[in-house]
Amino acid sequence: MELLTKKFQVRSAINSLSNNKSIGFVPTMGSFHEGHVSLIRKAAEECDVVVVSVFVNPTQFGIGEDLAKYPRNIDRDSCLAEEEGVDIFFAPSEEEMYPKGRQETWVRLGEIEEKLCGAFRPGHFRGVATVVAKLTNIVRPNKLYLGEKDFQQLRVVQRMVEDLDMGAEVIGCPTLREPDGLAMSSRNAYMSPEERAAAKVIYEALMEAKKVAQTGTHSADRVKQALVEKLVSEPLCRLQFVSVCDSESLEELTRLGGSVLIAIGAYFGTTRMVDSIVLSFS
Ligand code: PAF
Repeated sequence: MELLTKKFQVRSAINSLSNNKSIGFVPTMGSFHEGHVSLIRKAAEECDVVVVSVFVNPTQFGIGEDLAKYPRNIDRDSCLAEEEGVDIFFAPSEEEMYPKGRQETWVRLGEIEEKLCGAFRPGHFRGVATVVAKLTNIVRPNKLYLGEKDFQQLRVVQRMVEDLDMGAEVIGCPTLREPDGLAMSSRNAYMSPEERAAAKVIYEALMEAKKVAQTGTHSADRVKQALVEKLVSEPLCRLQFVSVCDSESLEELTRLGGSVLIAIGAYFGTTRMVDSIVLSFS
């Protein structure tokens, strides 16, 4: 595995590959858990060359968010990547990614970036879209792998890559869960044991909502009501939003139909959690 920290090194490593090699790219903020490993394995299954980036991107964190305390485990991450057969491990510094200090050029999406989490994290998806565009321009992958856990991020990146003809296929990979259903996330480690135990209510609420949705009701409000009832029954849960929306446009629904995203954003202590499931209706 090549461990690279400079953009020019990645470009020249990619340029030296023969043209018929397919490149799979997994952009991450590091602190790997099984979810990241599953993305790397999928990329290795489908592509000849696997590139992984680890960069805790400051432009996607808002004021008062957890940039300083975001977990960083670069040595462990590079060992895991090597074990998984990654070819290029790109771990740039902040100066390398943003050499001019501040970025003048940003990728902005339309309404899709303002919904769900976007309504509570102004500028977050602008930061995500911009850094993924920069990384994609450096790596020029055939396929780019992201987790479905951050479903809005997946849709934002899919839309950006399509709208800007970036020439990669964006693959969403299923959320991996702990035995009690909690979605795996680097942020899970922030929670106290009590908060961690309470956080299983998120998956329980999603399962309740699924049950209600599958009773034959067409009412998105009934599904939302089931989510809220379950979530507020847990005293350590501070609910931020629930959404029942179209899984492509992220438009809120009144009537269930097509591919429906059921999503939750909630705090446990100071840790913000997001999770979702997708259901199909005929
Ligand atoms: O999901 C993440 O880890 C980040 O948001 C990403 C896609 C690597 C962009 O910084």
